Amino acid sequence: MQRKKEIKTLGNNNPIGIFDSGFGGLTVMSAINKILPYENLIYFGDTAHVPYGTKSQNAIIKFSKKITSFLIKNNVKLIVVACNTVSALALPVLDKIAKIPVIGVISPGARAAVGASKNLKIGIIGTEGTIGSKSYPKAISKLAKAKTYQQACPLFVLFVEEGLTEGEIIDTIAKKYIKPLLSKKIDTLVLGCTHYPLIRKTLEKNLDKNIVLVDSAKSTAMEVKRILEQKSLLASKNNKKYLKFYVSNNPEKFKKIGMRFFSKDIKDVKKVDLDD
Ligand code: DGL
Repeated sequence: MQRKKEIKTLGNNNPIGIFDSGFGGLTVMSAINKILPYENLIYFGDTAHVPYGTKSQNAIIKFSKKITSFLIKNNVKLIVVACNTVSALALPVLDKIAKIPVIGVISPGARAAVGASKNLKIGIIGTEGTIGSKSYPKAISKLAKAKTYQQACPLFVLFVEEGLTEGEIIDTIAKKYIKPLLSKKIDTLVLGCTHYPLIRKTLEKNLDKNIVLVDSAKSTAMEVKRILEQKSLLASKNNKKYLKFYVSNNPEKFKKIGMRFFSKDIKDVKKVDLDD
């Protein structure tokens, strides 16, 4: 309890730190930027180690601890773990080392799914790491007596990063992944990966019309707002707002591909090496 109190020493205009394995967390940053337009935001994309979805829990903990320390050194007032895989496999460890609030995407996503589902039959798609951790079913079971059905979709990340978000090939893959979930009569599907909002159209096309798609980006942004309000730490309206982007590899590629995730131009991207 004591350590979380230290947040009071940080000012309202200190930045929010957001991180992900690469580009995907920009969908969460975009939602935060819309819902909290006065906040300074610092983003870190671990492009040297992406994808996380197929890596071991130990590796993910090691990478994300370094990123958390980097963000803390940059005086962030709150950290958003904008990656489902890190939220699933490393959140308690990061929460322990940080003296500021650390928010993942799983609990907000689970809450949104329970809120949206009428028959409490909820499907979840994500990376192998997220699905293997059963984090979504566990978070959902704390909120409601729901039936959950999971499906790992490892190929989606590769396709989204290649810009292949629509067309015959991704349709075929989507059908294959989704088929087992459809037979369970789900009425809600959690997009449990930062990349999946970009294939929303393809998913909708291959799902029954009544199925609600839940994207945790928006619910996470709402959670950030709620916590900052509660701690009286919202940025002031006259804050000289900035957005900063850091990556561990290939800033030029990040600018190009990141635009699709952030839905805006990304101008200044700095490379930092956290492996030293
Ligand atoms: N950001 C990851 C997630 O949300 C997807 C990309 C990756 O595997 O690193 O799980």
